[in-house]
Amino acid sequence: MRCLLKSMFQLFLVYNCLFSTIGASTPTPTDTIAPGQTMKDGGTLVSAGGTYELGCFCPGKSKSRCLRIWYRNIATKTVVWVANREAPISGSSGVLNMTSQGTLLLSDGTNSIFWSSNVSRTPQNPMSQLLDSGNLVVKDGDDAVAGNIFCQSFDHPSNTLLQGMKLGRNFITGQDRILSSWKSADDPAQGDALFLIDLRGFPQIVVMKGNKIFFRAGSWNGLWFTGAPNMKSNDLFSFEFILNANEVFFTYEIPSSSIIFRVVVNQSGSPLQPWVWTDQTHSWFSSLQCGAG
Ligand SMILES: *[C@@H]1O[C@H](CO)[C@@H](O)[C@H](O)[C@H]1NC(C)=O
Ligand SMILES: *[C@@H]1O[C@H](CO)[C@@H](O)[C@H](O)[C@H]1NC(C)=O
Ligand SMILES: *[C@@H]1O[C@H](CO)[C@@H](O)[C@H](O)[C@H]1NC(C)=O
Repeated sequence: MRCLLKSMFQLFLVYNCLFSTIGASTPTPTDTIAPGQTMKDGGTLVSAGGTYELGCFCPGKSKSRCLRIWYRNIATKTVVWVANREAPISGSSGVLNMTSQGTLLLSDGTNSIFWSSNVSRTPQNPMSQLLDSGNLVVKDGDDAVAGNIFCQSFDHPSNTLLQGMKLGRNFITGQDRILSSWKSADDPAQGDALFLIDLRGFPQIVVMKGNKIFFRAGSWNGLWFTGAPNMKSNDLFSFEFILNANEVFFTYEIPSSSIIFRVVVNQSGSPLQPWVWTDQTHSWFSSLQCGAG
């Protein structure tokens, strides 16, 4: 966690022109799927600001295809979310569609369902949208505001915590948001490194791999975690830990829109890796790997 902040400082001066490189693509991309519409393998949704893209593709050498969300403007295809982690589709027959009840269905073109969104209530006017935060939502009507969101990918994280996502539990719905590593670089199925809020005793952030606990934040004193006193909000990275009768969660914000930042739980090496994109080298930089502890 100390490294995470350090990397933010080290990269403060890195100028990033991500948002100036958007554009010039045909045909005009869409960010929504409505009931009755389908998106075939090869098709994508692009968020309104052009930051994220959703579609099916195979990672690395794998032949299995999964529905993923990745950064649209980063040369290295970097995935931030995977729908059918445990049930990849072999071949390119994948189809995503939406039912009139507002359920997203990923099938292989036959009636075999490889993934579906789970809406507990039926929206009146369902619509699915990829938001510019990287969140794929099923919403009601035009606005993706809190009460209108029936289901969201941010509630079902894979290995990446983006800004605005909540790690932790909603006590009302029972929804638990836990990050888990991929099995390998080519296999997004759940591995054994986890990033979660441990609810035993006083709720606290924990990073573990198998039975081994790598990091325990200690209790929250309102400003910082007693086990990680160096991790404090600053101009580059601000975070919150909220514990009340309804929920407990950890979330963070990166105030500068020119910094592209993600936190990944990784099976190999250090289990919790903060990454910052640097345009100069066209690569992700992790201070943990550089030994800048
Ligand atoms: C959506 O996909 C499912 C599963 O393949 C299929 O049964 C259904 O007819 C499809 N709906 C539309 C509107 O294409
Ligand atoms: C859908 O959600 C309900 C509770 O809201 C749960 O019981 C059920 O197992 C979920 N189904 C899937 C496929 O996740
Ligand atoms: C996991 O860590 C290894 C070694 O640090 C790195 O090469 C790889 O890109 C990381 N994987 C992800 C998904 O970030």
